[in-house]
Amino acid sequence: MRTQVCIIGGGPSGLLLSQLLHRSGIDTVVLEQRSRDYVLSRIRAGVLEWGTVETLRAAGVGARMDAEGLPHDGTYLSARNRGFRIDYFAQTGKRVMVYGQTEVTADLYAARDAMGGVIIDEAQGVTLHDVETGAPYVTYHKDGTEHRIDCDFIAGCDGFHGVSRPTIPDTIRRDFERVYPFGWLGILSETAPASHELIYANHERGFALCSMRNPELSRYYIQVPLDHTTDQWSDAAFWDELRRRIPEDTAETLEMGPSVEKSIAPLRSFVSEPMRWGHLFLVGDAAHIVPPTGAKGLNLAASDVHYLHEALTQHYAGDAGAINLYSDRALARVWSAMRFSWWFTTVMHRFPDQSEYDQRMQESELQYLETSQAAQASLAEQYVGLPF
Ligand code: APR
Ligand code: PHB
Repeated sequence: MRTQVCIIGGGPSGLLLSQLLHRSGIDTVVLEQRSRDYVLSRIRAGVLEWGTVETLRAAGVGARMDAEGLPHDGTYLSARNRGFRIDYFAQTGKRVMVYGQTEVTADLYAARDAMGGVIIDEAQGVTLHDVETGAPYVTYHKDGTEHRIDCDFIAGCDGFHGVSRPTIPDTIRRDFERVYPFGWLGILSETAPASHELIYANHERGFALCSMRNPELSRYYIQVPLDHTTDQWSDAAFWDELRRRIPEDTAETLEMGPSVEKSIAPLRSFVSEPMRWGHLFLVGDAAHIVPPTGAKGLNLAASDVHYLHEALTQHYAGDAGAINLYSDRALARVWSAMRFSWWFTTVMHRFPDQSEYDQRMQESELQYLETSQAAQASLAEQYVGLPF
C-alpha cells in the first residue's frame, strides 16, 4: 500500500491529523494496535482550550461538541475549604469547553468514516523503517499476514508507550522528566455536578477537583499516595475525603452516589526533543506528557496537530522548508504548557515532605490569586490556552 502520510496511533492526535490532512487533500492511513471499542472505552479529561475548539470546528467535528459541550467562563479555586472564582472570560475574552476526550475521539472516528478515511485497527507489531531517508515505510501484522505501507512521511501519534519515539536514536533524542510523588484517584458518578464550573481545591489533606461531563455525569478526583490502589477506596471513603477538602458550602450540597468508574492515574511531566527526525514527526503524548492539573494533555496534542497540518500542507504546496519549523514551533508551546502545569500542580498539591511553612506559601499564593487582577489574568490566559 502507498500513502502520503502514515499515521501510527488512532487516538485523538492521529485521528485529528488524519481528518485535517484529508480535508486538505493529503492522503493518510491510520494504524491502531487496539480495537476501536477499546480506544473509545478509555476515560480521559475533558477541558478544551478555545484554540482546540476552533481546530475541531475547522476539522468539521464541532457539531456535537457545540450542541452538548459546556462552555465555561471561569473556574473556582479553593484553600482551607473556602473558594473564590477566576473569571477568565472577563480577563481574556476567551472561555473553555467542557467536553470529554472520549466524545472528541468518537466524533473523529465518525468523521473519518464519513469521509472514507482508512483506519486499520488491531494492527500488531507496527515497525517504522528508513525514517531518516526520503522513502520511509511501515510494516505491521494483521490477520496473520505481514503488510507494508510506503509513504512520504510518518506521524508518530502512538502515545507515551508507542514505537515512534524510541525509533529516534538515543544519540539524537533528549528526554526531560519529572515524576510527582502522588496520584489522582478519579471517579465518574451519575450525579449532578458539585458546581456549574470546575473547582480546584488546595487542602492540607491533599488536592481535590470537582469536574463534570454533563448535567447528569460528574467527574471527581482526589490526590492519593502513589502506592494506593482503588481497592483501598470505597465510594463512601472517597466521598468523605472529597468533602473534607472542597469548599464547605459545596460539601454541604454535594450530590453523592455509586461510582460508575474508578481509577488512579500517576502524575508525570515529560518532554522528548526533537519532535522530528528525518521523515518522522512526533505528535501528542508520543512526545510529551503533562500532569492533568492544567488539563493540557489533549490541548497540546491539538496544537501539535495544528502545526504539523500547516507544515505538511505547505510542504505539498511546494514550500520544502515548512517541515523544518515543526519541531521548534510545537516545542515552544509544549514547554510553556509544561511550565503552567508544573506551577499549578505545585501550588495545588500536598507534597509528602511539605512543611507547614510550605503549606502557608501555597495558601499565600492562592490569596494573591484571589486579590490580584494581574495574577488572575496570568492564570486565565494560560488556562484558556496561549495562541498557536
Ligand atoms: N502501534 C499502533 N498503535 C499504537 C501503538 C503501536 N505500537 N502504540 C500505541 N498505539 C495507539 C494506542 O493504542 C492509542 O490508541 O496509539 C494511540 C495513542 O493515543 P493516546 O495515548 O490517546 O495519545 P494522543 O492521541 O497523543 O492523545 C493525547 O491522550 O492521554 C491523553 O492526556 C492525553 O489528552 C491527551 C491525549
Ligand atoms: C476532567 O474533567 O477529567 C478534568 C478536568 C480538569 C482537569 C483535569 C481533568 O484539570
